[in-house]
Amino acid sequence: MEEKKVLFSGMQPSGKPTLGNYLGAFKNWSSLQEEYNCIYCIVDLHAITVRQEPAMLRKYTKELLALYLATGLDSDKNTIYIQSNVTAHAELSWILNCYSYMGELSRMTQFKDKSQKQGNNIPTGLFNYPVLQAADILLYQTSVVPVGEDQRQHLELCRDIAIRFNNIYGDVFTVPEMYIPKIGAKVMGLQNPTKKMSKSDADNENNVIYLLDDLKVIYNKIKRSVTDSDNQIIYSDDKPGIKNLLNIYCGITKKTIEQAESDFKGMGYGAFKEAVAEVVVEEIKPIQARFNEILADKIFLENVIKDGAKKAEYMANKTLRKVKKKIGFIS
Ligand code: TYM
Repeated sequence: MEEKKVLFSGMQPSGKPTLGNYLGAFKNWSSLQEEYNCIYCIVDLHAITVRQEPAMLRKYTKELLALYLATGLDSDKNTIYIQSNVTAHAELSWILNCYSYMGELSRMTQFKDKSQKQGNNIPTGLFNYPVLQAADILLYQTSVVPVGEDQRQHLELCRDIAIRFNNIYGDVFTVPEMYIPKIGAKVMGLQNPTKKMSKSDADNENNVIYLLDDLKVIYNKIKRSVTDSDNQIIYSDDKPGIKNLLNIYCGITKKTIEQAESDFKGMGYGAFKEAVAEVVVEEIKPIQARFNEILADKIFLENVIKDGAKKAEYMANKTLRKVKKKIGFIS
């Protein structure tokens, strides 16, 4: 039997996961788990590129693990683990730093955005972050990386680093392809639909739908979302609020934009928002119920963490040994 290709992705335990994370990541992750040999990582090493409170980091990490499982990932079929439990990530990251350039890292738009918020003392980790991300992916000989639109540049860099390394040492790494969904890859804020919905956006609660928000709160946030005044439900860049709601609706229902436009033709914004709010709430409701059950089962979660780390470590070390040998390190 032909071996399944490897799929790798990850999420940071740096805040409360959002509807953007769900549509850009979780929803695709669970739909791809039969087709690929899937590895899903909780990237806590990435999270510390900005300061984290230790108790909160622990809480968010456990909750994110429970959410991975509650959104449908099967811990028997997939490898689900915490990044800092597998030391190979940090090791390969250092090595790849020696094969990455200041120029290409300086061009990363996420670095430019995030570093602006850091004042004068910008952690070097924030600068090197995409190299760690490349290490995550390349350690597992990954073929496919499902991500949202905001990760495109990091994935391109990862491919460049892999190709550069392979050109020097032969075929060491699989060069990964990115998988970005057509709909839902960039969910925007509800109050500011020209900016991405983000878990680190703590300034305006109504802008962001958190997956663990009370269902009534979710409903009301969508009802209060910013639109425009021409009362036409059309997918257009001139109507960012409506465009975003149509994207959310289609990301969840899997309908095409054209189908949704025709379903809502002639409907007012109030009724349209209610329809969107309903599908979102119906989608999230069972996830929250499973999340609460899973989070309460401490022994199960501990076992998932232990087993996941063991499986991931085995695969990662295989690549790391190969890399070290190629470079000329003695073992
Ligand atoms: P993170 O934690 O910011 O986001 C996790 C995933 O959610 C997607 N996403 C969105 N999708 C649609 N609309 C949005 N508003 C939205 N916000 C976030 C992201 O694109 C991502 O797929 N650097 C990564 C984590 C990472 C990683 C990796 C991913 C580390 N190593 C290796 C893939 C492979 C990050 O910060 O994601």
